[in-house]
Amino acid sequence: MPADIFSTAEKAAKWVAGEIANEIKQKQKLGEMCVVGLATGATPLGVYSELIRLHKEEGLSFLNVVTFNLDEYYPMLKLSAQSYNHYMNDVLFNHIDIPQNQIHVPNGEVSKVTITGYCNEYERLIDSFGGLDLQILGIGRTGHIGFNEPGSQLDSITRLIMLDSLTRRDAAKDFNGLNNVPKAAVTMGVGTIFKAKRVILMAWGEGKAAIVKKALEESQCDAVPASYLQRHTDVKFVLDVPAASELT
Ligand code: F6R
Repeated sequence: MPADIFSTAEKAAKWVAGEIANEIKQKQKLGEMCVVGLATGATPLGVYSELIRLHKEEGLSFLNVVTFNLDEYYPMLKLSAQSYNHYMNDVLFNHIDIPQNQIHVPNGEVSKVTITGYCNEYERLIDSFGGLDLQILGIGRTGHIGFNEPGSQLDSITRLIMLDSLTRRDAAKDFNGLNNVPKAAVTMGVGTIFKAKRVILMAWGEGKAAIVKKALEESQCDAVPASYLQRHTDVKFVLDVPAASELT
């Protein structure tokens, strides 16, 4: 699986933003919509600030862009400061010209009774746009992509999932303590991500080095869901030097 190693996370994020911009512009030339899968967390922040800069300073338009976010905590109110809905508005959508009705973030407010139907509909909606042209990912220290925790299968689809205890501990700082971290999430499946035409996974910092090594260099297995990306035909790992430090 190809990996590009950049001297800093900032340079890497700029490169990824440039790839997203190129994809958007190519689709504009063809008069087509560009369907982009987005991630949250700390990793993509530099990508989003560069996309905002490209919009404000270089006229990059998002009018032809449709977005699907990977995941949302469950249960989670859309307007909560910790929701991925709020995060996306704050760090990207409020600063670009994407039409509101072209934005999709899983809804953490759906009742337990209707959640399976809701997840199936999210899956169907992605397919109705012809699937994801480009999916960007971070990676959790459990090896999750989206919130596909260990045990997630290659053919899994959008669904409700219980969060791993390590993932909840890593999120505790954002929730003022572990007890406030939701126990579950709605996430696209590994199979949903796998259907994307192109995948870019980003990881920064030495805290990700061990899991990056497992995902890239060890055998594919559901204990490290990101390792399934080794089978994808157009995937790239984009790393900074510390995140790549355990690769052979
Ligand atoms: C977020 C997501 C997760 C994160 C991962 C890394 O939408 O799907 O897989 O990408 O937990 O999080 P950070 O970037 O905060 O280290």
